[in-house]
Amino acid sequence: MTVLPHAELHLHLEGTLEPETIFTMAERNRIDLPYADVADLSSRYDFSDLQSFLNLYYANMATLRTAADFAEMTDSYLARAARGGVRHAEVFLDPQAHVTRGVALEEVMDGVTTALACSLERHGVSSGLIVAMLRDHSAESAMQTLDAVLTLGTPLLGIGLDSAEVGHPPSKFVDVFAKARAEGLHVVAHAGEEGPPSYVWEALDLLGAERIDHGIRCLEDDRLVHRLVAERVPLTVCPLSNVRLRVVADIADHPLPTMLAKGLNVTINSDDPAYFGGYLDDNVTAVRDAFGLDQATLTTLATNSVDASFAEPSRRTALLAEIASAT
Ligand code: HPA
Ligand code: ZN
Repeated sequence: MTVLPHAELHLHLEGTLEPETIFTMAERNRIDLPYADVADLSSRYDFSDLQSFLNLYYANMATLRTAADFAEMTDSYLARAARGGVRHAEVFLDPQAHVTRGVALEEVMDGVTTALACSLERHGVSSGLIVAMLRDHSAESAMQTLDAVLTLGTPLLGIGLDSAEVGHPPSKFVDVFAKARAEGLHVVAHAGEEGPPSYVWEALDLLGAERIDHGIRCLEDDRLVHRLVAERVPLTVCPLSNVRLRVVADIADHPLPTMLAKGLNVTINSDDPAYFGGYLDDNVTAVRDAFGLDQATLTTLATNSVDASFAEPSRRTALLAEIASAT
């Protein structure tokens, strides 16, 4: 199902590992999986909250060992995303999750950046990499990761903040984000997924976040909504993720219509598509069908995604023109 041309701004590369790929990579790298087969693994995708998902997400990453594995994961995502209408992708990677299990940072970065470097030529998708810091690890570990990536000279769009949110407020990472900004990097942060609105305030005021990933709990704080609307801060909303991680009970209960009605700068994204039941096009289709979104609203969502991206001005202009001509 193709939707209007979009920029995908909230996508964890490791969350694109499909069950079949996990088995292929495990076999290739001689890793024993604690699942009988693909069906057995897939039967475990019934999550109760963010942590229950993260446990499986981190466990399955053990199948990634070589640069070729990282390149294959990245290229497969780009191919699938392109088929669904994605024309620009700013993707998250969790280097700490690989380095702490003994994979060299060079191996990780080499694979991912090799695939991203030919994304436009191979798939018609411009791209950029955002290194996400694991907020349930220490601030020192995040700083070491930033330093190591900068030393490697990896082409980088920016840094982000992900993993278990509650108990790990943005304030823990003030120094890392200050350094990233001083290095000229963009900064974004997950906030207000399971965590309270105060985490969104902190991400804005203490980290200088240019976009908030998820952010849906902002609706509990009128003053925060007012600020986000006034400053047109993009919120990278992931509807199917919110349902699967039980942030909302059902797609019909998703606050997207309320967010749009309040004038929030919302974009639609897939988060961890292999785990949450669909890619960007599936997410757009799900909210379109659940809420009967009209063409004007779908155009707004596509336009917001390009506006909220860090793409070069000429690329933005080209993508906005593509959206306009498709509607
Ligand atoms: N939230 C926080 N951390 C994550 C997620 C998410 O949805 N996916 C991968 N890491
Ligand atoms: Zn996420």
